Amino acid sequence: MAVLTETMVRALIAAGLAAPSAENHHYVQFAWNGVDTLTLQESPAAYPPSRVFNAHILSLIGAGAMVENIIMRASQDGFEVEVDETLGSLWRISLHFQAVAGLLADPFASAITARHTNRKWFRSPGLSATQKNDVEAQLAACSASGRVLWLDQPDQRKQALSLVWRAESERFKSAELHQELFSAVRFDVGWEATATEGLPPGSLEVEKPMRAGFQMMSHWPVARALSLFGAHRMMGLRAGYLPVRGAPNLAVIATTGELAPACFEGGRLLERLWLQATAYGFSVQPLAASCLLAMPGWRGVTPACASALQRGWERLIGSQHMPIALVRIGTADPVSLRTGRQQVSSMAVSGLAYKNPCQSLHRGLGGDVAKRLPLCCAAAARAGSCRQQAQA
Ligand SMILES: Cc1cc2nc3c(=O)[nH]c(=O)nc-3n(C[C@H](O)[C@H](O)[C@H](O)COP(=O)(O)O)c2cc1C
Repeated sequence: MAVLTETMVRALIAAGLAAPSAENHHYVQFAWNGVDTLTLQESPAAYPPSRVFNAHILSLIGAGAMVENIIMRASQDGFEVEVDETLGSLWRISLHFQAVAGLLADPFASAITARHTNRKWFRSPGLSATQKNDVEAQLAACSASGRVLWLDQPDQRKQALSLVWRAESERFKSAELHQELFSAVRFDVGWEATATEGLPPGSLEVEKPMRAGFQMMSHWPVARALSLFGAHRMMGLRAGYLPVRGAPNLAVIATTGELAPACFEGGRLLERLWLQATAYGFSVQPLAASCLLAMPGWRGVTPACASALQRGWERLIGSQHMPIALVRIGTADPVSLRTGRQQVSSMAVSGLAYKNPCQSLHRGLGGDVAKRLPLCCAAAARAGSCRQQAQA
């Protein structure tokens, strides 16, 4: 039996962390058995209590994207991966690696580090008909239940635009959704710097004259008052409708079956699509709200909005598939700022030696440090270092 080396495991975890997540935060703990198995386990300690369900669903999609990256990265070292998933109230995914002589590296693995979200305006060209067929074939080869559906015909685009506008506006109108949206934005780092967790404002591509207004909208009393005058519709127009209208391609990842496996599978397919589009040289932005707010049990959305979105999606893609993530794809200028990632060397990974976890946790968390002290203390206790810092 071929075993993974520590260097390989670090590279695999780095590939996993490079995957997209809704708020640039993977709620995950890694454990390596020292031989051939890497386990990813949901780590919900930092979920705000009111958002546990939504955060769990988002982390399932993120877990799918992480697993896809890890499988692709493993192929570059000649390893095949068997995925053993338990998607209960907390998900746990064990990846068993097996060396396979002559295994070819996944053709899109090299796009893992280049992939990122681009929130600039998109223009033509988009994917050619052949490229779209190739994407469909790639996704069909890895999933029996999920698929990509293109929404590029004028009538489809019109229907999708109305769903996007409705959902993106709701994020600025509902107190819970507003809190969910803005709690992820790291205004503390300013507009020029990146952040290893959360969304650095500079990555949101808000035009300079609109930044003060956007930041003001992050205060719920302001957003609530302005929504009486329709400000939420204007925000939805700028955040969703206009970027989607100008994009040459619009695609939705859709899956079937129970919610948890559908989200995990959707995350895997979203990442495959994204990597393939990146490898072709295109820019990608997910706009997930129209899909998420239509999911059964999503918190913070009014019943009227949820059922309008559900009906709209059913008209657009039928009732057999559940929409997981909508993405726009096209040609765009380079982003102003990319989001950062936590370094593997600073993480407490069971089975791996690590460096000074407290330092990295304290640096990256801003006001959230207190919530994560148990993890920090546990890591520090095992390392026998930084105990005072963790307890401070
Ligand atoms: C499930 C999911 C939903 C997302 N929804 C949105 C969205 O609605 N709007 C957006 O601009 N980005 C969205 N993103 C992109 C993330 O914000 C982004 O992946 C994360 O901040 C990391 O940045 P990166 O993709 O540049 O590495 C989503 C990503 C995922 C996985």
